[in-house]
Amino acid sequence: MKDADFFALAVKASEKSYSPYSNFKVGAVLLTKDGQIFTGCNIENASYSLTMCAERTAFFKAVSSGFRDFKAIAIAGSSDGDFSKPCIPCGACLQVMAELCDDNFMIVLADGVYRLSEFLPKRFTL
Ligand code: THU
Repeated sequence: MKDADFFALAVKASEKSYSPYSNFKVGAVLLTKDGQIFTGCNIENASYSLTMCAERTAFFKAVSSGFRDFKAIAIAGSSDGDFSKPCIPCGACLQVMAELCDDNFMIVLADGVYRLSEFLPKRFTL
């Protein structure tokens, strides 16, 4: 799949966002090494800290469906329908990626393709 098509799936996934507090819609699409796709969106809560990011929604769907080998994620975020600015994954989502992905895991954003190691050069593990 082309990066642009992959990113477009993340924009599409953001339509499911439940974000009445921030009004910032995020969509993520996670691709496994064997070609499966899992989507995610951010899901907010009146108790703000319970909010779940789009990326972790996608990871938790995938892992709970039995998939653990990941190749890439596309992430799209916007408050006004313009998805041209990159939505950089937060530290909590990077730590989940650190648990489940290798350094070469690809992160597809609005402005290009990155590797996990660029955002998280070192990782906490036990
Ligand atoms: N958010 C994500 O879903 N992913 C990110 O990478 C950054 C932030 C969500 C959390 C919250 O619902 C909203 O964006 C504003 O922080």
